Amino acid sequence: MTTSQTSPPKYLQEDSLSEECKKLLDIYKYQGFWTSPRLIQGVIACQQQFQAQDTDIILVTTPKSGTTWLKSLLFALVNRTKHSVFEQNHPLLVKNPHVLVPFLEHTLYVDGQVPDFASFTSPRLLATHVPFASLPKFVQNSETKLVYLCRNPRDTFISMWYFSNNLRLDHKDINSIEQMFDLFCKGVSIYGPFWDHVLDYWKQSIENPNKVLFLMYEEMKEKPKIQLKRLTEFLECQFSIEEENCGVVDEILKMCSFENLSNLKVNTNEKLSTGEGNETFFRKGKIGDWKNYFTVEMSENLNRITEQKFNGSGLKF
Ligand code: A3P
Repeated sequence: MTTSQTSPPKYLQEDSLSEECKKLLDIYKYQGFWTSPRLIQGVIACQQQFQAQDTDIILVTTPKSGTTWLKSLLFALVNRTKHSVFEQNHPLLVKNPHVLVPFLEHTLYVDGQVPDFASFTSPRLLATHVPFASLPKFVQNSETKLVYLCRNPRDTFISMWYFSNNLRLDHKDINSIEQMFDLFCKGVSIYGPFWDHVLDYWKQSIENPNKVLFLMYEEMKEKPKIQLKRLTEFLECQFSIEEENCGVVDEILKMCSFENLSNLKVNTNEKLSTGEGNETFFRKGKIGDWKNYFTVEMSENLNRITEQKFNGSGLKF
């Protein structure tokens, strides 16, 4: 995510936390969620201009929940007839997943761009971090499928903290874990409040299971085959018996694994057009790294907030 120093648009909501947020994270509240002025312009352009197609597949994630991983899995799955996973020059081996599955508001509609969808084949694979209520109405009202991925708030927070400090290329004004944690708990994080984001999509996945599939990073890590099959059933592109016998499922998981993707030349040496080094999307790729950073108090605080927010929803992390 690129941050911008341009002055914020006038329609942004003022908030009691505004000053602190402007200074630390350069994010503002818009339609009830927090993001940077530059991305808000992308969100608005997307809301006004994006024409969803019924065959579109949109990956929605909370930032740092494994978007890069899911993008690669989706691409490999959906395009496996065109690009065999056994191909030596499979697109995922030479391009970063963010290039193959672009973000609507970050990449396609950012900075006043008018996206050219002519080169996209059907089904179009796209991604966004936008909360459900702020998705373009076309997306909400069409047959477009939404694959949602989230991750436990503890690891999400640590990954986010690392990432945001990593983007400060001059390594000045590094945000302390305490400052960012305090804001995260108050709901202030990019595309946060975290819990509202997750809960809205969770409810949608229950009300409309053919439209929204709800996935969790931890379940993907622990039972990848089962989750991959859920994904193929939702997208109606199940593996055939021949594919299963030929090892396609294992090959997709192997190709999209942290170990494989993070060691590819493209992901160690190259940058995205938005400026981030591809390597910044691959850090540890593990469950539970938060234990190396949280104090007991931090852990208890976050557990309490999560329990309160998700109380009665059936959601557990
Ligand atoms: P960590 O910072 O905990 O290592 P996003 O893609 O949404 O930006 O999320 C980034 C997180 O996903 C990082 O977590 C990153 O290491 C992890 N990740 C990236 N690729 C992965 C993969 N193929 N498998 C598992 N985790 C992956």
